[in-house]
Amino acid sequence: MNFKSHLDEFEVFGKVATAATNLGVKTYVVGGYVRDLVLNRPCKDIDFTCVGSGIELAKEVALQFEGHVPLSVFKNFGTAMLKLDEWELEFVGARKESYRSESRNPIVETGTLLEDLERRDFTINAMAISLNAEDYGELLDPLGGLSDIRKKIIRTPLEPNVTFSDDPLRMLRAVRFAAQLDFDIDGDTFHALSENASRLNIISGERIIVELNKIIQVKKPSYGFKLLFAGKLLHEFFPEMVDLQGVDSVDDKSHKDNFYHTLQVLDNVCLLSDDLWLRWAAILHDIAKPATKRFNKKVGWTFHGHEDKGARMTPEIFRRMKLPMDERMKYVQKLVKLHLRPIALVKNEVTDSAMRRLLFEAGDDIDDLMKLCRADVTSKNNKKVKRYLDNFDNVAQKLLEVEEKDQVRNFQPPISGEEIMAIFGLEPSKIIGDIKEEIKEAILEGKIHNNPIQARELMLEIAKSKGLSPVLDLPNS
Ligand code: CTP
Repeated sequence: MNFKSHLDEFEVFGKVATAATNLGVKTYVVGGYVRDLVLNRPCKDIDFTCVGSGIELAKEVALQFEGHVPLSVFKNFGTAMLKLDEWELEFVGARKESYRSESRNPIVETGTLLEDLERRDFTINAMAISLNAEDYGELLDPLGGLSDIRKKIIRTPLEPNVTFSDDPLRMLRAVRFAAQLDFDIDGDTFHALSENASRLNIISGERIIVELNKIIQVKKPSYGFKLLFAGKLLHEFFPEMVDLQGVDSVDDKSHKDNFYHTLQVLDNVCLLSDDLWLRWAAILHDIAKPATKRFNKKVGWTFHGHEDKGARMTPEIFRRMKLPMDERMKYVQKLVKLHLRPIALVKNEVTDSAMRRLLFEAGDDIDDLMKLCRADVTSKNNKKVKRYLDNFDNVAQKLLEVEEKDQVRNFQPPISGEEIMAIFGLEPSKIIGDIKEEIKEAILEGKIHNNPIQARELMLEIAKSKGLSPVLDLPNS
């Protein structure tokens, strides 16, 4: 691969090289950018390491751009960043100690390029491209990153216990890179990872969730979760998911392994959507199965109410995992709660009102709910799979028809509370909510259509039964 011609393509590398020559410091492109260049993956963050002060180098580079690029300096970390269009350029002096320690102390000890590369997380992230006149554009790979990329292996540059003790988050990063790149983790590295798993407990939830979400956003996340499970990392921060694993048998009756089932559902949903939160709904859809598991001599294993309990567990899991406690949590919670409902609608004799109720409860998330249900079909029997999916096609079609008639998916009350108060001369009070609720119920039950005329007639009837009479003259009443 010709790295020089890549450098020549973008003026930024020439400018950094000029700045480095002006200051007389050896400078290199390092880390993820070099890895992604070799792998032909897009990358918009470029890390530069110099044998000197990264901050001074960044200032000199800013001068090359005549100050048109915003510069941020992080004195405590000894780093500086320049923003150039969609690129982020980070400058740092080569270090002797861990590249990303949690320490808030200023970084003082400068090192050689080799020392800097050795303290990085993985060999694939520890390659450099020279920006120096004598070997401009040459790949410097003292730790064998290129060969590990060819072998598709994640390996630490130093003895793995040393690399992981510098920053235990790297154990999760190992899995994340393996999942993103579809690489294996080297045997010694994986062994050390499973030995050190409990050290994840010194890492903040915020850093953990960034890596976990990256694992969830790959094309086929089951691989990452299997590594997390096998390395016992998952046990450290997601015990509820670990509890899904295992099969119980009584009287020759066993249930499926809900951990592997969940992973299959997750992979299936990934074929249908890139959305992170739909993927989280897949992860959590059966999370309460262990807690609701019962054995009944007649019917075998049951998990009654796991959807409701799972929905109740969702906020707690989100809070602990530092996931957002906003409408995204509510969305996941809703899908967990409703994930069995479309299955109940498969039967032929299902009423329109059951359809309307689901449309009302799912609202605009009905399409995602149907995706989750399709993904939940994990039978190995192709005939069964086809039958289930055809059934869901029918349900989707019926839902469309009902929605066309009654528009309950984005239900807006056909009569507002203000109108009810004005018509009956009422102050805000519970009775107004009661009337609105009865009207909504009548619409969902199919007793009246979702339109203001029928709703007003019903409102008058309900009001009369409550001893209320209008204080306004109503047309057509
Ligand atoms: N690094 C490290 N240890 C860490 C984090 C980062 O050694 N815990 C080093 C690696 O050399 C990495 C570089 O810092 O390549 C930049 O880190 P980061 O931007 O987090 O990762 P990238 O490798 O660029 O990958 P991505 O952008 O996918 O996160």
